[in-house]
Order: sequence, then structure tokens, then C-alpha cells
Amino acid sequence: MCGIVGYTGAQQAAPILLEGLRRLEYRGYDSAGVAVHGGGGIEMVKASGTVERLAEKIDGGAAMHGVCGIAHTRWATHGAPTDTNAHPHLSEHGTFAVVHNGIIENYAALRAELTAAGCVFRSETDTEVVAHLLERSYDGDFLRTVMRTAARLEGSYVLGVLCADEPGRLVCVKEAGPLILGLGIGENYFASDVTALVGRTKNVIYLDDGEFASLTPESVTVYDRTGREVTKTVSRVVWDLEAAEKGGYEHFMLKEIMEQPRAVKSTIAPRLRSGRVELDIGWSAADMASFRRIVLTGCGSAYHAAVAGKYVIESLCRVPVETELASELRYRDPIIGPDTLLIAVSQSGETADTIAAMRECASRGAKVLAIVNVVGSTIARLADEVIYTHAGPEIAVATTKGYTTQLAALYLFAVWAAEGLGRIEKTRYNELVAALSALPARMQRAIDLNTHVRYLAGRWHGQGAMFFIGRGMDYAAAMEGSLKLKEISYIHSEAYAAGELKHGTIALIDEKRLVVALCCQTALFGKMMSNVEEVKARGARVLAVAPEGDRRIFADADDVLFAPKGEELFVAAPELVPLQLFAYYVALENGCDIDKPRNLAKSVTVE
Ligand code: AGP
Repeated sequence: MCGIVGYTGAQQAAPILLEGLRRLEYRGYDSAGVAVHGGGGIEMVKASGTVERLAEKIDGGAAMHGVCGIAHTRWATHGAPTDTNAHPHLSEHGTFAVVHNGIIENYAALRAELTAAGCVFRSETDTEVVAHLLERSYDGDFLRTVMRTAARLEGSYVLGVLCADEPGRLVCVKEAGPLILGLGIGENYFASDVTALVGRTKNVIYLDDGEFASLTPESVTVYDRTGREVTKTVSRVVWDLEAAEKGGYEHFMLKEIMEQPRAVKSTIAPRLRSGRVELDIGWSAADMASFRRIVLTGCGSAYHAAVAGKYVIESLCRVPVETELASELRYRDPIIGPDTLLIAVSQSGETADTIAAMRECASRGAKVLAIVNVVGSTIARLADEVIYTHAGPEIAVATTKGYTTQLAALYLFAVWAAEGLGRIEKTRYNELVAALSALPARMQRAIDLNTHVRYLAGRWHGQGAMFFIGRGMDYAAAMEGSLKLKEISYIHSEAYAAGELKHGTIALIDEKRLVVALCCQTALFGKMMSNVEEVKARGARVLAVAPEGDRRIFADADDVLFAPKGEELFVAAPELVPLQLFAYYVALENGCDIDKPRNLAKSVTVE
């Protein structure tokens, strides 16, 4: 959940490191710091608050001199977001500086051991133990010292290290978190995310767990845990910096909402060839017959996509589908075996609980398919097969195109598997393929239909709490609509199965309450109208999401958002667009930090 970046080359490092931090700030932004090797030793500056506050302290980097350095933007796990707790952390005598992403689970024991040996700690962090372990085990060999120290750590640790004795050289290690190397000409980099590198180089190496790298301006060498050199593939980043910029929008979130038609098209179009769905994975659709059931897992919005996907896959494939939060699945001793297909859903591909759930299920014999957006991410490399969403980099912490492209990938899988299992007729298959092909335009229609959403947000932004209710796939969409509102506007909201309201929660409904009613399932429309009348009878106001052109809704709802017509099985994706926009404009009205909401980080790489 933190961002680390390192540079070694011929240019002043601090400005380059600051630029890298700006592109990593969505990963965590409660404090930041830079350490550079200025030839005369390690110079370090840290600041609580945003990267810009750090930049002010060092005059945009001009105040620090050195052509090799490391930097960090933090999402606090141990110790408050203060200057002292910010990374990098220095060893007692300044021999090493270290930045860290992850959690060192045995840090308390290590801290006690070091304290007993006379070590004086300055911070409350787990990371500082690494700096002191490095110095106390240092034998003059920078790389081996890092290897020896890493061998003592438990948990997740992606480390970048600077050594006072070796100006121009960086050593880094990857364990349970993302770490990418950037290869330049006379300069080299490491970073938590490609977005920090793509403005400088598009030639990257994705490290695997347990790998170390030694970087100088002229060389990058990768080693395994035993210290043996390993040969790694150099990948070429296919998108450019502009894709990771705001493109004239006020916030990344709005840009990414508007990008959804293109992102959904990029996910679907390459997989529709000659009227057929081609997933280009190592299994045939008929292979799905070997699975007695399918388990979908993920966290947050990825889990919500899984819930929506469940309805579609079960409806078409007639195979039992379960959804489970990854943070629950990993601990409940699940009854999973070789007859289970686990589908892990993730935008970042680095979510700790999802990775752990994958490992748990794979250890019990399950086959694992990943639906993931980040190429080369840990989840992508752990899975047996991968369906990449092609959403492009998603910077806003609140996912939008990440979620709807996950749905697009789940729809592709459902149609592909149903046909392979012989569960749908050719005519229905062709209908669904046509609906997939039409989905990008339907996403654009969802944007065009709801230009009044900003006005509605102005009407309702002062609400103390909201309920999002729906049935079937509308309920799955309600979960995501509720989370969007919560995480960027800080207004409490709850997604509820509409049929459940009467079993207690309706006690909370009064004239102060806004109920968002998702009514896009034709077969359930009448039931939803009953629910709408029930809450209105108790004084609630209702904002409905209804199919385009359906006039019945106006009889009961106070305001209406529209979902464009089309294949109902695929409604959750276009249905979310007005809810994403509603959450965005409510948060805008409330003056919230939309792209970097408080307490959150883009990728939860720790438990
Ligand atoms: C969504 O807006 C949140 N940022 C969060 O729920 C996110 O979906 C969740 O942390 C899972 O992340 P992933 O898709 O990268 O695994």
C-alpha cells in the first residue's frame, strides 16, 4: 500500500524521485521521503503529508545533491503519519537507508533483539528494524548483506536500499508486493508500479517473489534467493505517460468514468473474432466440464464484480457458482478441490487477501483463473490462466473502469463457457456475442443519458446516510454503487437486498432517508415498485435507476437515473455508470479529495 521508487544514473536523483512519487501517490499518501547519495554519504529528507509538501521542503529536489537515491510515499501501517515514521529509514550510523512496502510480521521480535543489543530506535515503524539489521550484519558486501537481512524477515517486504559505501548502486528485493525494474540508457530504476517509470523508460522487468536486483547506471542484475543470477524477460510497456495523466479532467476518477466505453471495448473487442468468443487461454471451453463448481473471489469492488458475475455465469452455464470475500475464503478451511475452478478478480493484481486466497485454493488442488488489469502483477503470475482486462492504468483510488472491465471479462467467460458446455443454443450464443459487441456503445449511452446526474447530486449531497436497494444483479450493482459513494464522499450508505428490508432494516427508513432503488431487472420490476412504495410510505425519498424509456418508474420515484436498454444479463456494467457519476458529483459538492480519499490506498497489498 506504499509506493517506492529508486534511481541511479547521471542526473540529479531527487527531482526524478519526486516525479516518481507523484505517480505513485495513489498507493498511499500520508507521508513521504527521499534519500540520495551525494558522494559524501546519504542525505535524507522526510515529510508528513503529501508528496508536494516534501517537494516544497527540498525545493522540488534542487536542494538535494546526488545521482543515486530512493524515495517512498506511505500508507501508514505501524506508527502515525509523522516525519519520523516516514520512509526512508536510516541505520544507526547512516550506512544504509531503506524504503519498504509491506508488513514485517516478525518486527516486534527483531526490534526486541536489536534493542537488547543496544540499538536505539527513532520511529514506531516495522521498517526501521531492516535498516538496523543491515548495518549490524554488514560485512562490506552490500548485496549479500541485503540477502542475509531479508532471510530474517517474515511477512511482506519489498525493499529498496542505498548504501553509503557504494555511491551509484541500489539493491532491492521483492517479497509479496509489486516491484518493477526500469531499464534506461546510462540510468536504471525500480518502482512499485510501472506508472512511476513509463515517463522515463518503457523497458521493464517484473521481479518475482524472492528475487533481488542490483542496479548501477550501467547494469541491472537479478538474483534468486540463493544468490544465483537469473535471466529475466524485458517487457515493453504498451501505453504511454498520457494514459496515466488526467487528460484535462479535474480528477482521474472522472476521466476513468468517461474512459469506460473505450476500456470495455479494449477488453471485449480482441476476444470477439468471426462471431465467436475467443479467450486465448490454455483451456478449452469444454474443459469447464471438469469443474463441478466455480468459486469467485476478490475484495471490495472486485468482489462486487464477482457477485454480479455469479448471476451471469450461473444463468448461462448452469454450474453452481459461489462468491466469497477473499479475506474470508483464505481462513475458513474451504472445501475446495481439483473439481473447483477459482476465479480471482483484481484490478491491481497485488491485493494481499486475494493472493492468499488463491494460494490457499491452489494448495487444495483448485485451478485458478485470474481476471486482472495489471500485466505481470503477482496475481497474474500466480494464476494458471489469466484474462487481462485492458482498462489501462487506473489511478483514482475508487475504481470505475477497473470494475466495469472486470464485469466485461466475466461476461466473456460466461458466454464462452456456456457455449463450450453446450448449455446455450446457437441463436442465444449469437445474441450474447452481439450484446457483448454492443456493450461499449451501451456504456457510452449510459454516460449520455445521465447528464442530469450532477443536478441530482446537488439535491442529495447533504444526506446523512443512504440505502442502495436492488434484487438479483441489481443488488450486486447496489453493492458497488454504495461503496463508490462511501469511499469518496464519506457519506454512510448500505447496499441491501430489497426483499430483506422488511426483515428489520426498514426500521431505519424515515423522512430523512434517501433510498437509491435499482430497478433494471424486468422480471423483478413489480417487486421493486412494491419496495419503493414501502419506503415512500415511511417518508423516504427515492432516487431510482431504471431502464431507459420505462415511464412506470416516474409514478413513484422522486428522481430517476437511467440504464440503457440491452441484454439484461449485462446490465450491471452500464447501470453502474450513473451511480459512479452520482458518487463523484456528491463528493465534489462535499469538497472531498476524490482521487485520494482519506484512509484509503489504491492497492491493499497488506492484510
Ligand atoms: C474500490 O473502489 C476500492 N478501491 C477497493 O475496494 C478495491 O476494489 C479493492 O481493494 C480490490 O482491489 P483490486 O481490484 O486491485 O484487487
